[in-house]
Amino acid sequence: MIFVTGGAGYIGSHTCVELLMAGHDVTVYDNFSNSQWEATERVQRIAGRTMAVVRGDIRDGAALQAALHASGAKAVVHFAGLKAVGESEAEPLKYYDNNVLGTVRLLEAMAACGVKTLVFSSSATVYGVPEVLPYREDHRLSATNTYGMTKLVVENMLRDLHRSDADWRIGILRYFNPVGAHSSGLIGEDPQGTPNNLMPYVAQVAVGRREFLNVWGNDYPTPDGTGVRDYIHVVDLALGHVKALDYLGANTGCVSVNLGAGVGHSVLDMVRSFEAASGRPVPFKVGPRRAGDLDAYWADASLAQALFGWRVERGLDVMCEDTWRWQNMNPNGYKGEK
Ligand code: NAD
Ligand code: UFG
Repeated sequence: MIFVTGGAGYIGSHTCVELLMAGHDVTVYDNFSNSQWEATERVQRIAGRTMAVVRGDIRDGAALQAALHASGAKAVVHFAGLKAVGESEAEPLKYYDNNVLGTVRLLEAMAACGVKTLVFSSSATVYGVPEVLPYREDHRLSATNTYGMTKLVVENMLRDLHRSDADWRIGILRYFNPVGAHSSGLIGEDPQGTPNNLMPYVAQVAVGRREFLNVWGNDYPTPDGTGVRDYIHVVDLALGHVKALDYLGANTGCVSVNLGAGVGHSVLDMVRSFEAASGRPVPFKVGPRRAGDLDAYWADASLAQALFGWRVERGLDVMCEDTWRWQNMNPNGYKGEK
C-alpha cells in the first residue's frame, strides 16, 4: 500500500494510475485545494482498480496520522503542496505553512507509524541560476523565489532527517517541466483561472478559449531567442515514481535524482509542435520577459537511468498530442462548464 499525498492533483493523479497498474494498492490523501474529486474517479476508471481516497489536510497532524495508520501503507509519495511561483512571492507564509510545516507534520506522522520510505516532489528550481548545464544533481543549490525556497528547505530537512536516522529511505525527485496528459484523455492538467504555465496556455489558445499566447521574451541567448526548458511527459514522470519506489524498496539512503528528458526545447518549438499535433493555429505575440524567468536549462538525466533504470519514452509530439486530446475532450477541465 502506498499513501499518496496530493494524489488528486496533476502529477499525483497520473502517478496513482501507474502505481495501480503496477499492482500497488493506493490511498490518496488530499484537501482538494487545487484539484477535483472527479480526477480520483477517473484514475480508478483508467486503471480498472479501486483506491481509497481521504479528504484531509497534511497540516492536520492528527487526521493525517490516523489516515496513514488506517491505510497500512509502507511508503509515502508526497505531492501535496502549493506551486504558484508568483503567489509564493505575494504570500510567503502561506507557502511555508503548506509546503514546509505540512511536510513536518507528514514526517512526524510517518515516524509515529513506523513508515520510513518517502518519495518527495522537488523541482529543478532548487538549482537556481545555472553555473553549468545540463544541471547535474551535484550542482550548487539555491532559490530565487519563495516557492523554490520551500522546496530547498524541505530537501535540507530530509537530508538532516536521514542523517539522524539511517533507517529512512528517501527519494528526492527534482522534476523538470511536466506537460502532457494520460493517453486516454480522461485525466490531465486542470489549472484554475488563467494558466501560468506554457502548455496549458497554448492548449487553451488552440481550442479557442484564449485569443493568443504571450511569448515572454525573444531576446534570450538561445537559438530562437525564446526560453528553453526540459519538458517531460507527465506519464514518464509518473513512471519515474514507480521506479523510485522499487529502488527504495531495495536500497537505504537519501538520494536526489533529476527527472527530465535531458534535452531543451524553446517556447517556439512547443508552439510549432502543438500546431502540428492539433492541426490548429496557435497565434502568439512577443511581450517583455517575465520577471524571474531563466533563459535556458535542462537536466542531466543519467543518474535516474543508472539508479532506477528509468528514462523518458515520450517525445514532444506525444506530449502535444496527449495535451490536445485532454483539452479537446475536456475543454473546461473536470468541472465541465466554468
Ligand atoms: P497540483 O496542484 O495539481 O497537485 C497538488 C495537490 O496537492 C492538489 O491536489 C492539492 O489539492 C493538494 N494539496 C495542496 N496542499 C495540500 C494540503 N495542505 N493538504 C493536502 N493536500 C494538499 O500540482 P502538481 O503539478 O501535481 O504538483 C505536485 C507536486 O510536484 C507539488 O509539490 C509541486 O510543487 C511539485 N512540482 C510540480 C511541478 C510542475 O510544474 N507541475 C514542477 C516541479 C515540482
Ligand atoms: N512562457 C511564455 N508564455 C506563457 C507561459 C510561459 O512564453 O504564457 C515561457 C516562459 O517564459 C518559459 C517557458 O515558457 O520560458 C516555460 O514556462 P512555464 O511557466 O511553463 O515553466 P517554468 O519553467 O517557468 O516553471 C516551471 C514550474 C515552476 C518550477 C519551475 C522549475 O512552473 O513551478 O518550472 O523548473 F519552479
